[in-house]
Amino acid sequence: MPNLLLEIRDLHTYFKTKEGTVKAVNGVSLQMEENSILGLVGESGSGKTMTALSVLQLVPYPGKVVQGSIKYHGREMLTMSQEEMRHIRGMEISLIFQDASNALNPVIAIGKQVEEILREHTNVGRREARYQAIDLLQRMGIPDADDMLKRFPFQLSGGMAQRVMLAIGVALKPKLLLADEPTSSLDVTLQAEILQRLRELRRENGTSILLITHDLGVIAQMADAVAVMYGGMIVEYADTRSLFAKPLHPYTWGLFQALPRMDTDERVLKPIRGIPARMLDPVDQCPFLERCPKALNRCRTQGRPPLIEVEPGHKLACYNPMVYD
Ligand SMILES: Nc1ncnc2c1ncn2[C@@H]1O[C@H](COP(=O)(O)OP(=O)(O)OP(=O)(O)O)[C@@H](O)[C@H]1O
Ligand SMILES: [Mg+2]
Repeated sequence: MPNLLLEIRDLHTYFKTKEGTVKAVNGVSLQMEENSILGLVGESGSGKTMTALSVLQLVPYPGKVVQGSIKYHGREMLTMSQEEMRHIRGMEISLIFQDASNALNPVIAIGKQVEEILREHTNVGRREARYQAIDLLQRMGIPDADDMLKRFPFQLSGGMAQRVMLAIGVALKPKLLLADEPTSSLDVTLQAEILQRLRELRRENGTSILLITHDLGVIAQMADAVAVMYGGMIVEYADTRSLFAKPLHPYTWGLFQALPRMDTDERVLKPIRGIPARMLDPVDQCPFLERCPKALNRCRTQGRPPLIEVEPGHKLACYNPMVYD
């Protein structure tokens, strides 16, 4: 059994609002091994970002983790002190977002931002930090790194800002990188380049990556395994090959149906019919029920299906999965 890096169990993260409780994360269970890339997919609003933010205790107010367990190397994180969390956030687990411009401090030059992180968490002096910062930026594909250090975030293009954020995210060689749509705002060439850097990071440092994306093409290229989220829960989990060959959950199956087909001129994503899952005060039943082409009466009466292993390494939360022969 490979070493477990992260183990999330029955995680619930809720937003109490005037209208009711938004169950953004509603019973997520997820495991990540060392030196692995796990893709996390699912439609907008299904709870992917809140799952990642829960891991680092960065859920925005009034959101709150109300139940569950998140273990990092076997240690419970939800009960850690601020001090321990700061250490983990600095040295062990880092987070990169889709929108780099929000993550960088607008009034501090790039060089200073990278150097400060290095100096805060490691024992390097000013010169060494500067040297390392240049090296990092170069490795992220920034040609004139010396010049870049002097610039402010507003002086960077989107692609450059994304590279800088990635450099900051990996500066301390984290064991785990939570990458939330790291390439979706970039053009195809830049996207390929950033994905290449992420692969190198894994190869050179053994960094595991939780890769959140809407893009199944990115998942196919990058991920060892995939977790599919719907309505605040994981509805399917499998290694990438099995999931693409044989999606068992009707929602996952629908995702693949919605992909543009290469053998026709159709390039537009077909949305899955029906309205998205109800996150506000959800009913205790399968969140996909109202849209599911395979729903049975049982799905209405038996409560939410638990996530169980239906084949070795393939987990599913569904009472009436797709059938293949
Ligand atoms: N401040 C808030 N108050 C109430 N509900 C919130 C708040 N922030 C997020 N939510 C809800 O939490 C749910 C999960 O949001 P989350 O951002 O995790 O989705 P996501 O899967 O990352 O979506 P996307 O693919 O669009 O990034 C959503 O239904 C959202 O409406
Ligand atoms: Mg998100």
